[in-house]
Amino acid sequence: MKLFIDDANIEAIRELIEYYPIDGVTTNPSILAKAGKDPRETLKEIREVIGDDMIIFAQAVDLSFEGMIRDAHMIVNLLGANTVVKIPSTPIGFKAMMALQKEGIPTCGTVVYTPMQALLAAKAGASYVAPYVNRIDNMGYDGVGIVKQIQDILLNNNMACEVLAASFKNSQQVLELAAYGIENVTCGPDVFRGFVKNAAIDGAVQDFVDDFEKLTGKTSMSSL
Ligand code: G3P
Repeated sequence: MKLFIDDANIEAIRELIEYYPIDGVTTNPSILAKAGKDPRETLKEIREVIGDDMIIFAQAVDLSFEGMIRDAHMIVNLLGANTVVKIPSTPIGFKAMMALQKEGIPTCGTVVYTPMQALLAAKAGASYVAPYVNRIDNMGYDGVGIVKQIQDILLNNNMACEVLAASFKNSQQVLELAAYGIENVTCGPDVFRGFVKNAAIDGAVQDFVDDFEKLTGKTSMSSL
């Protein structure tokens, strides 16, 4: 499973790529708005921090077909290779995905709340579909269950499209999808930090050092 950071805070991205096995960064217009400056500058900074080999996702904002295509071109010109353009999974979005596929620009069908949206985005040529797990949960439905259903639809129809599950609030949602073989997950920094935030782990790690120090007076092997 690939792990993406769903955030545009440069310091958080720096921290997470240092300590976690990260595969890239996903953004959306709301995430870019939180950064509070020109979104082109934010996206370029993210590209610089993660390097050219990691994937970055950036979303077309314009809601017209022509505007989506223009936004997609602008995003790819700004960020170069290994860039995926997120397109809302709506009828105009499907049209844009079909057109961008012909141009060889990879897209992600985003704002996915239903399996039908995912099916249509995949058929329209999207390389990824992004269902919103926690937002679906908040509507009273089973976000994890819907992502599993989407995965089944893609696999059973041999579609060249991967799930990029998004909108997580806890580790359990991520783990359930990892166990199911979901290829990509994107989480905000707080969810990442919660993955191994556990007093039992911290206590056990410290106990080893304390026991070693009692024996040797040192806190590392190399200082013996
Ligand atoms: O990128 C879209 C998705 O991650 C939304 O997440 O946390 O705003 O529900 P959230």
